[in-house]
Amino acid sequence: MKIGVLTGGGDCPGLNAVIRGVVRKGVGLYGHSFVGFRDGWRGPLENDTIPLDIAAVRGILPRGGTILGSSRTNPFASADGPARVRETMRRTGVDALIAIGGEDTLGAAARLHAEGVPVIGVPKTIDNDLSATDYTFGFDTAVNIATEAIDRLHTTAESHHRVLVVEVMGRHAGWIALHSGMAAGANVILIPERPFDIDKVCAFVEQRFATSYAPIIVVAEGATPIAGTMMVKEGELDAFGHVRLQGISSLLETEIRGRTGRETRATVLGHVQRGGTPTAFDRWLATRFGLHAVDAAHDGDFGVMVALHGTRVERVPLAEATGELKTVPEHLYEEAEVFFG
Ligand code: F6P
Repeated sequence: MKIGVLTGGGDCPGLNAVIRGVVRKGVGLYGHSFVGFRDGWRGPLENDTIPLDIAAVRGILPRGGTILGSSRTNPFASADGPARVRETMRRTGVDALIAIGGEDTLGAAARLHAEGVPVIGVPKTIDNDLSATDYTFGFDTAVNIATEAIDRLHTTAESHHRVLVVEVMGRHAGWIALHSGMAAGANVILIPERPFDIDKVCAFVEQRFATSYAPIIVVAEGATPIAGTMMVKEGELDAFGHVRLQGISSLLETEIRGRTGRETRATVLGHVQRGGTPTAFDRWLATRFGLHAVDAAHDGDFGVMVALHGTRVERVPLAEATGELKTVPEHLYEEAEVFFG
């Protein structure tokens, strides 16, 4: 069997570990061959490939990013996209695809499978917002990077008696904000699932100063104020129709400074959260996802995504996995609220 592998969406620590797991087991145990498609769905759309054998995956386990490249290309953006994917597979002799990606890449994989393309999904995203899996790889690394950054910001907040607003990733789900904010002792955590009340945020700020400490506010990039309470800007859309977010932390910086008179500074962690070497947990999870994905291909079990349930890696239907985003439930946010102010 010849299997094509692609990585789509934002890069994410652990992508290379998946690719290595797929190829090492696929070649070593099953005798399959592999080809890499470059830059997500752009590869199969444009027949852009790179060789993918044991030599190509040597030494990549601890490397961030993806040796295959990535993009946010949507194969359904043009009417002939699915036909072009099938034509590339025919020309290259590829029998099946392993698509490693988040909600957009796997959403496209689910649609392609519905149109007869044999595809298996591997869940990737630092946002941890894919339903049907307990965790996605990349999330643990992002949380650790954000936690370390917040730990470091505490010293400046306290030395200068400043309010520090730390913006972390998560446009639809506040998992990174919740985990890193709790781990690093944030005074307020703002997430997309729960529109915030700016008056309450300012009250927490003052409460914190009253106890002689300086506040750190951790805000997910997709967090929004309660409608009508603060001005927010609209951004342009990407290929999958997502708004490019416009910097909630700098809006908060201005608003908190204006309302409280306290010196307030924003720090945007941005792509630092996705960069560099994966944590041991992410290497372990990504490697296991790769091993199980190639098992599914070997079994001819297409239209599935590998998923972590407890400590077991299981297969779930792709359509089910991409149907709904996994957001932070109320009860977990309430746990974090105990520490606000
Ligand atoms: O989906 C992963 C992610 O890092 C999100 O947290 C973030 O909103 C988005 O990608 C940023 O994408 P880009 O790097 O394309 O701006």
